[in-house]
Amino acid sequence: MAYETLIVEIEDHVKTIRLNRPDALNALNSTLLAELADAVKAAEENDKVRCVIITGSDKAFAAGADIKEMSEKSFVDVYMNDLFGPETDQLVKSRKPIIAAVSGYALGGGCELAMMCDFIIASDTAKFGQPEINLGVVAGIGGTQRLSRYVGKSKSMDMHLTGRFMDAEEAERSGLVSRVVPAKKLMEEAMSAAQKIAEKSMLTSMVVKETVNRAWETTLSEGLLFERRAFHSLFASEDQKEGMGAFLDKRQAQFRDK
Ligand code: HXC
Repeated sequence: MAYETLIVEIEDHVKTIRLNRPDALNALNSTLLAELADAVKAAEENDKVRCVIITGSDKAFAAGADIKEMSEKSFVDVYMNDLFGPETDQLVKSRKPIIAAVSGYALGGGCELAMMCDFIIASDTAKFGQPEINLGVVAGIGGTQRLSRYVGKSKSMDMHLTGRFMDAEEAERSGLVSRVVPAKKLMEEAMSAAQKIAEKSMLTSMVVKETVNRAWETTLSEGLLFERRAFHSLFASEDQKEGMGAFLDKRQAQFRDK
C-alpha cells in the first residue's frame, strides 16, 4: 500500500518504515499516526516479516506531535477521540520485534514513539527530549511513564521539567538507547541487528518480548515467576529441541517457529 507520510520497504524479512514528512521534521500528525498503525499491523500479519525498523531522516526521527494540527483542539475533541491512543496502542501491542533507528531530533511524541519500540539504536547526532512543558502540556503518549522507567526519576523529571535535550552519548549512558553508531552507519547497523533477530525463532522472540516487558509492569517476584514459566513452556517447542540439538551437533540451527 502506498502511504502519504511513510516510505515502506521489505527486504530480507525486515520491514523498514521510514517516517516521511520532511517539511515538518516528521511531526506526527493524524495521517502519519494512522498510516504508521496500518504499516505495523500489516507487518504483524505478514509471515514474511520477522522484524520491523522504524526510522526517520538524518535530521529528525520525529520532532513531536504536529503542533499546528493540535493547537486549536479542545479538551472535548482530544478526549472524545482519545487523541493518539488507538494508533499507538497498535504499535505497543505488536508481537514482532521493533527497532527504532534514531538520527537527529526525537522530541516529544518522537521520543515517545522511539520508546514504544523494543529498543533504540541512535546515531551520534540523535537528540532526545520531552519539551512539551514549553507548549503548556505534558507528554501524552507515554513520555512521563516510559522515560522514567528507562532513565530513572531524577533524569526524567529534569527532562520533563526543563524541556532540555539529551544527546546520544548521555542517552546511551542513561540506558535510553542500546547503542550509538556513527550517523552514516545507522541503517546498516539497524539492518544488521534486525537480520540477526529475523534469523531466530519468532516463537522464542515473542516470548522474549513478553517476558522482558513484564519487568516493566510487575513486581520482581511475579516477573521471575513469569520468566520461569515462560522458560519451562519453551520446552514444549520444536525450536528448543532444534536450538539445543544444533549446538550439540555443532551446526547452525534451522528454526521453524514451532
Ligand atoms: C509541527 C513542526 C514541529 C512540530 C518542527 N516543525 N517541529 N511542525 N509540529 N512538532 C516544523 C517547523 O514549524 C518548520 O516548519 C519545520 O518543521 C522546520 O522546523 P524549524 O523549527 O524551522 O527547524 P530548526 O530551527 O532546525 O529547529 C528544530 C527543532 C524545532 C528544535 C526540532 O523545530 C522544534 O523545537 N520543534 C518543536 C519540538 C517540540 O516542541 N516537540 C513536542 C511537540 S508536542 P516551517 O513551515 O516553519 O518551515 C508533543 C506532544 C506529544 O509531541 C503528546 C502526544 C499526545
